[in-house]
Amino acid sequence: MAESRVFLPSRMPPPTPIEDAEAAQRLSFHRSLPGYGETPLLRLESLAAEIGVSQLYVKDESVRLGLPAFKMLGASWATARAIQREWAPGIPLQLDALRDAATARARRRLVAATDGNHGRGVARMAAMVGLECEIFVPAGTAAARIADIEGEGARVTVVQGTYDDTVRRSAETADGDSLVISDTSWPGYVETPRDVIRGYATMFEEVDDALDREGLARPTHLFLQAGVGAFAAAAISHYASAGASRPVTVIVEPAHAACLLASAESGEVTEVPGPHRSTMAGLNCGLPSLLAWPTVQGGTDGYVAIPDERAHEAMCSLAQAGVVAGESGAAALAGLQALIDDRPAADALGLTEASVVLVVNTEGATDPANYRAQVGREPTEVGPGPEPIPPHSYVTESAGRTAHAR
Ligand SMILES: Cc1ncc(COP(=O)(O)O)c(C=O)c1O
Repeated sequence: MAESRVFLPSRMPPPTPIEDAEAAQRLSFHRSLPGYGETPLLRLESLAAEIGVSQLYVKDESVRLGLPAFKMLGASWATARAIQREWAPGIPLQLDALRDAATARARRRLVAATDGNHGRGVARMAAMVGLECEIFVPAGTAAARIADIEGEGARVTVVQGTYDDTVRRSAETADGDSLVISDTSWPGYVETPRDVIRGYATMFEEVDDALDREGLARPTHLFLQAGVGAFAAAAISHYASAGASRPVTVIVEPAHAACLLASAESGEVTEVPGPHRSTMAGLNCGLPSLLAWPTVQGGTDGYVAIPDERAHEAMCSLAQAGVVAGESGAAALAGLQALIDDRPAADALGLTEASVVLVVNTEGATDPANYRAQVGREPTEVGPGPEPIPPHSYVTESAGRTAHAR
C-alpha cells in the first residue's frame, strides 16, 4: 500500500474559533426541519481494542435529515440565513416564511458547486423553499451522485475541471436573483460559508449532550476528514471552548488533495493542483477555504494524508462493526489507523491505550458501485451496528410532540 504522509506543525498561532451568537436559533431551526433527529453516537468497542485505544466513538451521519451525509446541516442554515439577509431582512427563520420570501419574485434560484454531498443538501433546501436550483460538479463525478442531485429537482452542470474550477464557475453566476450557497469562501465571500460552518456545530453539540447524559468521557483525540476545511473548522471552533483540555486534533486528507497539510507546511494558504482523483470525492479539494484556514491552522495538532486504499480498508472495518460508511465518511478512521502505524507520530500526539477518540462518519454509501467493489456487500446487507447511546428526547416547536432520533 502507498505510504501515508504525516506532518506535525511545531508552532501554531492560537485557534480563532468561528463565533456563533445565534446558536440557540440555529438549533431550533434544525429541529424544525422535516426528518430532524439526533444522529446515532456509537461506541465501537472491538474496533477500539483492535486499534489499541480506550474508546472509539463514531458519530454516524450516514443518515441526516433524510440525506446520506452531514452536509444538510450547513446547507440548510446557510440558505435560510442568506434568504433572510439578501431578500427579506427581518423575516423569521422558519420554512414557511422562507418559502414566501423566496418565491415572492420569479426567476430566483440557488446555485452551488459541489463534489457531491453539499450540492445535494442545497438542492433539497431549494425544493423545500420552492426555488429552482443549479449545481455545478467537476468532470468525473460518479453518475450515482449526479443522479441523486437531479433527483432533488436541481439542474446539474458538469464543469470540465476540478472541484475548485466548479467553485469559480458558481461564483460567476451570483446576481440579485441567484444566491450562491457555497461551503468554501474566497475574498469578499464569507457570510454564507461562515453560516455553513455554524450549521455543522449542531452535530458536535449532539455529541456533547449524549456523552454528558450518559456520564461518558469527552474525547481526548479528534480525527477530522477535510476537503476545504469547513467541517474541521466547525469541530475546532466547538472544542476551542474547552481551552487547555480541548482534544488533540488531527486532519485527514487524500494523498493527492492534501491542501490543508500543504498550507500547514508552507505557513500560508496553498493550492494543490489537480487533477484530484481520489475516491474520497467529498475531500477532493485543492484549495482550503480562506475563512476556515485560520481556525484549522490554529487548532490542528497533526495532519495525515492517506492513499485511497486506507479509506477502503476503513470502510470494511466499519462495515464489520455494522456501520455503513462511504469513502469520505470512513477517512477519519483511516487517518487514525495510519497514525497508529506511525508510532513516533502517534507518541508525539499522545495517542495511547488510554485515548478516547471521536470520529464522524460523515456519509453513507454515496457511491453504491464503489461501495460494493470495496466492501463486497450491499449497504443494506451491513449491520445492525451496536445500540447507539440513547438519543435525546425533545419537544418539537412546530408540532408540540416528543420526537426521537430513530
Ligand atoms: C462526506 C464528506 N465528509 C467530509 C467533507 C469535508 O468537508 P469540508 O469540505 O468542509 O472540509 C465533505 C465535503 O464535501 C464530505 O462530503
